[in-house]
Amino acid sequence: MIRAVDVEYRYPDGTIALRGVSLEAGRGEKVVILGPNGSGKTTLLLVLAGLLEPVRGEVLLDGKPLKNQLPDARRRIGVLFQDPEDQLLALTVGDDIALGPRQLGLSDAEVEERVRRVAETLGIGGLLDKSPHKLSGGEKKLAALAGILAAEPEVLILDEPTTGLSPSRKRVVEKVIVEAARRGASVILATHDVASAYNLMDKVYILNSGCVVASGGRELLLDEELLRSNDLEQPLILRLYSVLVGGDLPGSLEEAARRVAERLR
Ligand SMILES: Nc1ncnc2c1ncn2[C@@H]1O[C@H](COP(=O)(O)OP(=O)(O)OP(=O)(O)O)[C@@H](O)[C@H]1O
Ligand SMILES: [Mg+2]
Repeated sequence: MIRAVDVEYRYPDGTIALRGVSLEAGRGEKVVILGPNGSGKTTLLLVLAGLLEPVRGEVLLDGKPLKNQLPDARRRIGVLFQDPEDQLLALTVGDDIALGPRQLGLSDAEVEERVRRVAETLGIGGLLDKSPHKLSGGEKKLAALAGILAAEPEVLILDEPTTGLSPSRKRVVEKVIVEAARRGASVILATHDVASAYNLMDKVYILNSGCVVASGGRELLLDEELLRSNDLEQPLILRLYSVLVGGDLPGSLEEAARRVAERLR
């Protein structure tokens, strides 16, 4: 449903951030982008969102050039920026979360219902009357994510959605991402967190210096050398799994840990 084809992007100062990147996410598919600082993850997400225009290559939404579908297509694509300060605009958290659903022309009651539901799911239901600028770092991330989820976009583009979150919140965010995909959304997210990536992904792309250096399924994350050379930390449990259990990889690290424990008993 959303596809980048041979995308090159150059910033105005001449930095070439993407050098011929291709990637695709189908309906209901979760695609994770991993890579070291400065590898081009954020740039790629902004290009996919139609917020940066590539100098070469193109982005296709439903097989047609995204740029010909703008600005209408913006409504179908939700973007969580790496820095939530860039997107928290309203005077209260509640109003901020409501911006997206309101643009869809929903009734006030429906908007309010969605705001409450999403805020409660993410554990920020008690913060709706607060100024977004007076939230903690993690709360800002959750508030920004709530605003995107409340609009129920078909494409979710999430730049480091779990960064800075404590473990239980991280699990909640992983769960809402999985649920959004189950409802049919295409999800593309960038992260440094290989453990979160493992639990979330159907497919992974590893970026380095603006190029895709590897792409595939969970088995890629067993390749210690590939991870090391791209400044990614392999979760210890994965190393143990590959040494002690081997074979098909389970869908979550928790399951991998269970099987390792069984083997050790
Ligand atoms: N506005 C900008 N102007 C010029 N160069 C930029 C700009 N934003 C990013 N870059 C450069 O583009 C390259 C890719 O940056 P990008 O933000 O996409 O990396 P990233 O993979 O998201 O990194 P991080 O993990 O630190 O978030 C880097 O070399 C960076 O210095
Ligand atoms: Mg980034």
